[in-house]
Amino acid sequence: MADRYLHLTGTAPGRFLTRRLGLPQPAPLRRWTLETPRLEGPLLHLTAGASAVTGVAEALSRSGLPVVGDTDRPAAIVLDATGVATAAGLGDVHAALHPVVRSLTPGGRIVVLGTVPSPDDHHQAAAQQALEGFVRSLGKETGRGSTVQLVRIPVGGAAQAAESTLRFLLSPRSAYVSGQVIELTTATPGPGPAADPAAPLTGRTALVTGAARGIGAAVASVLARDGARVIVLDVPGAREELERTADRLGATALPLDITAPDAADRIAAAVPDGLDVLVHNAGITRDRRLANMPADRWAPVIEVNLDSVLRTTDELLEAGVITRGGRIVATASIAGIAGNTGQTNYAASKAGIIGLVRSLGPRAAADHGVTVNAVAPGFIETKMTAAVPLFIREAGRRMNSLSQGGLPVDVAEAVAWFAQPDSTAVNGQVLRVCGQSLLGA
Ligand SMILES: NC(=O)c1ccc[n+]([C@@H]2O[C@H](COP(=O)([O-])OP(=O)(O)OC[C@H]3O[C@@H](n4cnc5c(N)ncnc54)[C@H](O)[C@@H]3O)[C@@H](O)[C@H]2O)c1
Repeated sequence: MADRYLHLTGTAPGRFLTRRLGLPQPAPLRRWTLETPRLEGPLLHLTAGASAVTGVAEALSRSGLPVVGDTDRPAAIVLDATGVATAAGLGDVHAALHPVVRSLTPGGRIVVLGTVPSPDDHHQAAAQQALEGFVRSLGKETGRGSTVQLVRIPVGGAAQAAESTLRFLLSPRSAYVSGQVIELTTATPGPGPAADPAAPLTGRTALVTGAARGIGAAVASVLARDGARVIVLDVPGAREELERTADRLGATALPLDITAPDAADRIAAAVPDGLDVLVHNAGITRDRRLANMPADRWAPVIEVNLDSVLRTTDELLEAGVITRGGRIVATASIAGIAGNTGQTNYAASKAGIIGLVRSLGPRAAADHGVTVNAVAPGFIETKMTAAVPLFIREAGRRMNSLSQGGLPVDVAEAVAWFAQPDSTAVNGQVLRVCGQSLLGA
């Protein structure tokens, strides 16, 4: 669905008028394309105090951007604040970023590296937690399509664990992700960067549910772009659309209702050599206020969005269908974080996904060598949001730091980052792809 306001503010008279009226000024986001796979400009590497992790310079050197210690026009700034352990140390964060923040190019990236707040040292915990408030505020200030994130690396750990995350955050692939905190585990990063960086999922098999259209089709497309063999699954009623999507992507269509009792068996039969990436994307809404919601609007939402995800995940993991080094990515929503009128069923199902990911992530890694993460989309331009009444839709689009809705590809790029072979240290995380929505922030 076209965002006419974004188009209007892209014209000189429109910009003039909307500025005069004090209206939001969304900047067109620069997303990944074959011609523009990278940010254009150098990466400025700064440090606040002494680093508490190893290998930051090496990790940044593999980010795809030229790393410099000084520049007038950085396309990205990475501030290593892992060693900040006192309130006074926060002064080093200010001193490092204050002079350069204005020079960031439009559509630029700021990543602050921190560590996990300590349960044993409340001064360190206060200083490291302070970085979260700092990053979330800076994300609201930078404007011009720029984004700001905090990546936590375990104290004493190696920044190598953050390489796939930095590649994602410091690229056009993360255009609609801002104000996020990503906490990495101590897991060793696995096989390292792929042999073919343009096709890191070569040799991997991925299955995406609800992939006939919308976000699921975009996820399938990005995973195929990254080299995966893709199976697209959707309800038998969407068979024609599913087959068109499969043909377009060179994927295999699997018409199947994910709530069917034998869904896991049917998936297992479709992947005789095992499944490397499982993306639970299928989802439905049946909105109504709780007082007006009969059980037949409650139950299917919980069944499709949560229960079938729990069931198929358990069955496929237990049967060993998901390979070691495999990735499970589920789909939550900011409604599951902020709540939403008329969506008690939907928000419950999506909050349930967050519970699932946080609980299962560490155990799935220990028992099966599999990571479990979730994306939590905000307002994404799809058929689902096109059905939202105009006023609420317009509010949903603007109520975020980037003043616009996201595109299905923005969610897909986040899924592809979770799916990377060297994203082993990214586990139990919920990444909001919401342009730093004010809802549930
Ligand atoms: N669009 C947004 O702004 C937004 C925001 C937050 C979360 N999400 C979530 O993202 C996911 C995709 O959303 P979308 O906007 O692309 O929705 P969509 O309605 O366009 O697509 C959902 C797909 O899931 C399929 N599906 C539904 N029930 C199924 C079942 N039982 N078995 C197999 N497939 C089934 C549908 O046929 C459809 O093709 C959903 O989980 C949704 O809750 C979307």
